[in-house]
Amino acid sequence: MRRSLVVGNWKMNGTLASAESLAKGIIAGLGENNADIAICVPYVHLPRVSELVKGSFLALGAQNVADKASGAYTGEISAAMLSEFECKYALVGHSERRSYYGDTDESVAARFCQAQEHNIIPVLCVGETLEQREQDQTFAVINAQLDAVINLAGIAAFSAAVIAYEPVWAIGTGKTATDEQAQEVHHYIRQYVAAKDQVIADKIQILYGGSAKPDNAKGLFAMPDIDGGLIGGASLDAESFLKIYQSI
Ligand code: 13P
Repeated sequence: MRRSLVVGNWKMNGTLASAESLAKGIIAGLGENNADIAICVPYVHLPRVSELVKGSFLALGAQNVADKASGAYTGEISAAMLSEFECKYALVGHSERRSYYGDTDESVAARFCQAQEHNIIPVLCVGETLEQREQDQTFAVINAQLDAVINLAGIAAFSAAVIAYEPVWAIGTGKTATDEQAQEVHHYIRQYVAAKDQVIADKIQILYGGSAKPDNAKGLFAMPDIDGGLIGGASLDAESFLKIYQSI
């Protein structure tokens, strides 16, 4: 039986004060530890939030990680730096990184490897645009995004990774994939991994992201291949994030 996981992605929102109060609100309402839960906060809020989560089971994550170990890479943050703040997770290949900042399949694969070198669990984000879906390219896009990482890191590396399926057309649009649409792609991803390693496929957590909210989370999470969610907008409010967590 796979353990479920809900991850909040705060994106580029908030102030140090609002980050503190949001983290405290989530910790105060955590309740029972029957699934994993994490928040991916802006880099500059990691030091403070890492102090706040100590002693709770709320885990911490970053929203990206550099594709290089160290050196003259102005503006980048390395996996070694993140590990100093007890980052358990790092998102890699979020669609906003891919579309606005030029993260390629290859650089995403390098980021994935960098995270793992420092015992940070990469959350590999994959997903198609609306245009790609309409042209029946969803699975081809996902194949390419997965293959880039599998080719560099090897399938065994997925024993310490999470995959997040985030259809680009559902992110921040209020247009959630239906339970069945999401399940279809999650099942596809699991089969794709299973063709290379059945044990890893059975174990890997595959999260859904894209306009997940308290009122649609239960249906999504009930699908057999959906192991939790990667939550954007609804993770900026402690109550709605906790409601989603409690829908597991
Ligand atoms: P929304 O939940 O705001 O659609 O964002 C999803 C997302 O991009 C999480 O990484």
